[in-house]
Amino acid sequence: MSNEEQELEARLADQEYFRPSPEFVGQANVSDPAIYDRFDDFPAGFEEYAELLDWDKRWDEVLDASNPPFYEWFVGGELNASYNCVDRHLDERKNQAALRWEGEDGTQRTLTYQDLYREVNEMAAALQSIGVEEDDIVTIHLPMVPALPITMLACARLGAPHSVVFAGFSASALAERVRDADSEYIITIDGYYRRDELLDHIQKTDQALTEVEHDPQVLAWTRHDDARHEIDEEYTMVDDLLAEHRREEVEPVSRAAEDPLFLMYTSGTTGKPKGCQHRTGGYLAYVTGTSKYVEDIKPEDTYWCSADIGWITGHSYIVYGPLALGTTSLMYEGAPDHPHKGRIWEIAERYDVDIFHTSPTAVRMFMKWGEEYPEEYDFDFRHMTTVGEPIQPEAWLWYYTHIGDESAVIVDTWWQTETGGHLITNLPALQDMKPGSAGVPAPGIAPALYNDAGESLESANGQAGNLVIENPWPGMLQTVYGDDERFINTYWADFSETDSDDWHDWTYKAGDGAVHAQDGYFRVLGRLDDVMNVAGHRLGTMELESAVAEVEAVAEAAVAAREHAEKGEVPDVYVTLREGQEESEEVREAIVGAIETEIGPFARPANVLFVADLPKTRSGKIMRRLLEDISNEEELGDTTTLRDPSVPEQIREQIQAG
Ligand code: WT7
Repeated sequence: MSNEEQELEARLADQEYFRPSPEFVGQANVSDPAIYDRFDDFPAGFEEYAELLDWDKRWDEVLDASNPPFYEWFVGGELNASYNCVDRHLDERKNQAALRWEGEDGTQRTLTYQDLYREVNEMAAALQSIGVEEDDIVTIHLPMVPALPITMLACARLGAPHSVVFAGFSASALAERVRDADSEYIITIDGYYRRDELLDHIQKTDQALTEVEHDPQVLAWTRHDDARHEIDEEYTMVDDLLAEHRREEVEPVSRAAEDPLFLMYTSGTTGKPKGCQHRTGGYLAYVTGTSKYVEDIKPEDTYWCSADIGWITGHSYIVYGPLALGTTSLMYEGAPDHPHKGRIWEIAERYDVDIFHTSPTAVRMFMKWGEEYPEEYDFDFRHMTTVGEPIQPEAWLWYYTHIGDESAVIVDTWWQTETGGHLITNLPALQDMKPGSAGVPAPGIAPALYNDAGESLESANGQAGNLVIENPWPGMLQTVYGDDERFINTYWADFSETDSDDWHDWTYKAGDGAVHAQDGYFRVLGRLDDVMNVAGHRLGTMELESAVAEVEAVAEAAVAAREHAEKGEVPDVYVTLREGQEESEEVREAIVGAIETEIGPFARPANVLFVADLPKTRSGKIMRRLLEDISNEEELGDTTTLRDPSVPEQIREQIQAG
C-alpha cells in the first residue's frame, strides 16, 4: 500500500456506521439474515433467484461446471426475457405504469404494462418483417427514449441478442461494434435532446456504414412524429413498419437458459472493446434477484436509476431487473442541469420516486451545485444506490444528509459489465452502512483478495490486494463474443490453473484493487489495469492512445489518469511528435478531435501535453504510472527500471515551465 492509501485507510477505519431506520427494515424485501445461509448451499442457493421468473421449462441442473470457465446455469431450462418483463404482469397490473419517461423538453409519456406489451409486440413484428430471426445480433444505437427498452424487449422476444451501443459513442465506435458482432441490423433514431439541442444522431449511422464492409439494414425511429433530421432513403422508418403491424402479437420464443440475451461492449486493456456476452436464464435470474433484495424494489414503487440504458447499469437495473419485478421504472432523456440545476429533484418530486439510483460522479456534481437545489423540492427517497466508482465519505455524507434526509438507506454496489449484477453490496436491512465501503459479499458470491503471486490474503486483515471471485455466479458473462481465448486470458489466466477441469481451480480476476477491512467490509480502490473511470464511464487507455496515434503529427502517445474533483478521473494525453513536426494549437485540436471521432466527446482529454520523450522501461514499455504521478503532482514512483531515469523529471520541469 502506498502512503496515501494508508492514510485513506486510517481515515476510513474510524468511519462511523449508519444504521438503517426501523421503518426501512420493517418493510424491506429481505430482513432475515438466514438468506446468507440459504445461499451458502452452493450452487443450489441461486435457485431462489431463478424461482422469481416464469420458465417455459424448468431447469434440470442448477450449474454445469464441467468445462470451466464456460459455466452453464439452469441447464435444460427454457424461458423468454420479454415474456418475464412484460406479458406475465398483464394479469395483475396491466394498467400500472411500467415505464415513465420524461423528455428533456418536458414531454412526458407513461407506458402501462399493457402499452408496453402492445409496443413490444408490434416492434417484434416489425423486426421480423425485415428479416430478424432468432440468434441474429441487432445493434441498437438509441438514446434515453422509450424506443430503447421497447426495441431491446422486442429483440428479446424474438431471441435475437441485442447489442446496445451508448448513444454518446461516435460513428467509428459504433462501426467497430457493428463489425465485431457482424451485426446485420442497426436500429437508430433521427435525434434526441441535450441541453435544448436536438442532436443529429442518425448521421452517426450514416458515417458508420461507410466504415463497415458489410451492408447492415437500418431501421430509424423518430424523436417527434416527424423526423427533424435528414434520414437516408435507404433506411426503413420504424413508424411506417409499425403502422403495418398494428395489434400484431408475436409469440415469445422459448430460449434455452444458456442462449445469449445480449452483448455489451466494454473497454479493456487493449484498444479493441470486448463484447461481453450475457446468457438469458442466469442473467435474468441474477438481476431480478438483486433488484428485489438489494434495490428493495416492489411492484408499487416508482424506481429511478439515472444511468443510461446504453451501459450495463441501465440494462440490469433500469430494464431487465425492475421490469421482471413488475415495478414502475423511470427514464429521463436529458442533461441533469437543464434547464436548471434542480431538474433531477423536480422529476423526483413530480413522479414521487421511492428509490433513486445514481453514480458517485453525479453525487459529487450535485454536491458542488449545492443543497439549495434539492431543498426546493418535496421528494422522499426510501432507498438510494450508488454504483460505478468508489464514493468518497464526504460525498456519501452529503448524499445521505441532503438527498436522503438522513432516513433513506444508501447502498454502495460494486460490480462490472462482466458480472451482470451486484457482487459486493450490503443488503440494506441487514448491515449497517459505512461510507466509502461497498460492504459485504452479495448472497452466494465469494470474493477474496490475492497478492500478485496469486496467493490468497488472509480474510479481513485490512491489506490491499487483487479482487477476485472464487465461485461462479449466474449473472457472469459467458464469454467475450467470438473470442474465448481473450475471455480466458483477460479474466481467468492470471489466478487459475488453466489446464484443470475442476472449477475450484478457476478464479475470476476483476482487475480492481480492494481492501478487506476487519469488519468484513470490502472497500474497492479502483482499477489495477490500464482502464480508467471517467465520470463513471469506463475507458481503456489503449483505446484513447490508438485514437491519438491516428493523428499524423504524433509519433507516440500515452494516456494517464488525472484525478478530478467531480469526474473521478480524466485523461491526460502525453505525446511526442514526429521529426519536423511542431507543437501547435492545430495539432492539439487534431488530437482532441481524433478522440471525439474514434470514441466520443465524453472521452475528451483534460490536457494534451507535448513532451520530448516518454518514460519507458528498457524493453520499451511505457510507464504510465509515472505519468500519472506527474499529472497528479505526486512524488514520482520508482524510476530505476527506466531506460532513461531522467525522463519523468524532464517532463515535469517542462510542464512546470510551460
Ligand atoms: C468498474 C466496472 C457496475 C456498473 C457500472 C460500471 C468500478 C464499480 C464500484 C463501487 C468502487 C466501483 C470498478 C469496476 N466500480 N462499482 N461501488 N465502488 N468501484 O461498470 O463500466 O464495467 O466498470 O467500475 O473499478 O471494475 P463498468
